[in-house]
Amino acid sequence: MTTLPGTQPASARLHVHEFAAGHEGGPTLVLLHGFPVDHRMFTQMAQHITPGTRVLGVDLPGLGQSRKILPQEPSMEASADLVMASIGEVSGPLVVAGLSMGGYVALALAARFSQRLDGLILLDTRTNADAPLARENRLKVAQRALDEGSSEVVAAMATSTLAPVTVQERPDVVEFMSTLIEEQTGAGVAWSQRAMAARVDRAHAVAEFTHEVLVIVGEADGISSPEVMAQIAHLAPHGRLEIIAGAGHMAPVEQPASVAHHINEYLARLAH
Ligand code: MLT
Repeated sequence: MTTLPGTQPASARLHVHEFAAGHEGGPTLVLLHGFPVDHRMFTQMAQHITPGTRVLGVDLPGLGQSRKILPQEPSMEASADLVMASIGEVSGPLVVAGLSMGGYVALALAARFSQRLDGLILLDTRTNADAPLARENRLKVAQRALDEGSSEVVAAMATSTLAPVTVQERPDVVEFMSTLIEEQTGAGVAWSQRAMAARVDRAHAVAEFTHEVLVIVGEADGISSPEVMAQIAHLAPHGRLEIIAGAGHMAPVEQPASVAHHINEYLARLAH
């Protein structure tokens, strides 16, 4: 079968990494990473998730091992549809947890597949669309990434996404973030930026979610602040906010055990 350049065969699938196999009928926790990294940002956190949970980390389009998956129209809807198609059959409750860009995808999933989701966890993210200036900036970054053929244009996010205390005292975390970012391609960075620039307001997806929505934010998140995340928790009919000490925008990377603890409690609440 031939496909037009830039289009995907209908069978295109995202890379799904199984952190833990779980038990038959147990919950499946789908982790959606932020920009500009991949599922490996959850490696440490996944080790703290309650045994029996199936834990999956999906590489979103253009990033990680999904670098070749670049749907023609960059959008959160395209990402959400691919996530759903790529995770396959799920025997027990399905819980989606998305951080920042992964949160935008999780919200698109909630809007498009609300009947299939039993739980929604939003980490360090936002429900609103970009303001015109932010959108313009994203499109410039996308063009530069393509022109340079690398992720260099977003290299500074290795530190700008972390809490000041993490940057000052934990060079290993900075190094980990730098490596993840360096390994991404210019095309993947560009696709993600264009998809985020095109995203719509998803406040309604939170307001209409019938199960509990768990909202987690690093106390020093300078991109999606605790104030903004508190409003999201407030918007949900059953919302709960947890603030993570000693973390910025990359809370699961900076404080993996503490974030996992709140996710485990959430999974236990859903089971009752
Ligand atoms: C992320 O961490 O995914 C980014 O901060 C998202 C964004 O650029 O809005």
